[in-house]
Amino acid sequence: MNGASASAPGKFVILGEHAVVYGKPAVAVAINRRFYIRARRNDDFRINGESTDLRFNPHIRYIAGRNDMIPVSVHMDSKIPTGSGLGSSAALSVAFSAAMRVLCGRSMGREEIAKEAFEAECYCQGRGSPMDTSASANGGGVALNAPDAGGSHLWDIDRDGVSWSVSGIDVPPMTFVIGCTGIKAATGPLVERVRKYKDGNRFASDIVEEIGQVTLEGIDALRAGDAECLGRLMTKDHKLLSILGVSSNELNKMVNASLPHAYGAKLTGAGGGGCMVALTDQPDIVCEAISSRGGFPFVVKTGVEGVKASAKNE
Ligand code: MEV
Repeated sequence: MNGASASAPGKFVILGEHAVVYGKPAVAVAINRRFYIRARRNDDFRINGESTDLRFNPHIRYIAGRNDMIPVSVHMDSKIPTGSGLGSSAALSVAFSAAMRVLCGRSMGREEIAKEAFEAECYCQGRGSPMDTSASANGGGVALNAPDAGGSHLWDIDRDGVSWSVSGIDVPPMTFVIGCTGIKAATGPLVERVRKYKDGNRFASDIVEEIGQVTLEGIDALRAGDAECLGRLMTKDHKLLSILGVSSNELNKMVNASLPHAYGAKLTGAGGGGCMVALTDQPDIVCEAISSRGGFPFVVKTGVEGVKASAKNE
């Protein structure tokens, strides 16, 4: 096999970001924005036609290293905004892992891909949870650390003394609007900021616990299709995340502008900039409210397929 193509979806976190890094529950859903990759065997590593130094492409470097360091020419095309909490780097890792598996004739199991991509994310950002890579590999919705919440068990992941159990959950049809601030914020430093706050402060640890409780209640509301309850919990989660110091003025403005027309709204992903999400049945009005605060809104479709890959002989 000398060529492969793959794609993997981005995601947004409905509830539980940051607390999930410490083994608390979280729920994320894949969205209809994907990362596309084509890879073919080559004499040296190339990205979008340019010869590349892999030190500047750590995701590619890590995953290539797990696949005999076979040199490849990679073409990437992403419809997921970067540095925005929508899982773009996880989708890159998942799609590239899948493409390399096809090229090397290895198994295409979603579990193996999710795990390899999670290791790549940790290599690049230091610390994190397997939420983004699991959502991207599996598609649909995933709940972490909520084994009794009624989902179907997918896989378990252990790292640095923390264990995560990952389940697939059905997300009933609901309309979400994402609002991007346009401000890029890397996940690693935000995760690190919360870790320092939590390590030195009992109050911050209590907030992390409370996010866990809110998330468990939210998974029940989600499965029951109770938008009012889920929305209320999303807004509460936003307040807790703000206390942890990961919101921003831009995010707060967009959340507050959405709330009169939404069941609930919150930042999504690492925060610091990036995006917020609103649960609403008035998406046009929420989009206007977000635009009026300088944000870039779009309506997302959930219930999308996870990683896909196929061979291409060129
Ligand atoms: C990023 O989408 C969510 C965080 O919880 C980090 C992680 O889970 O890896 C902030």
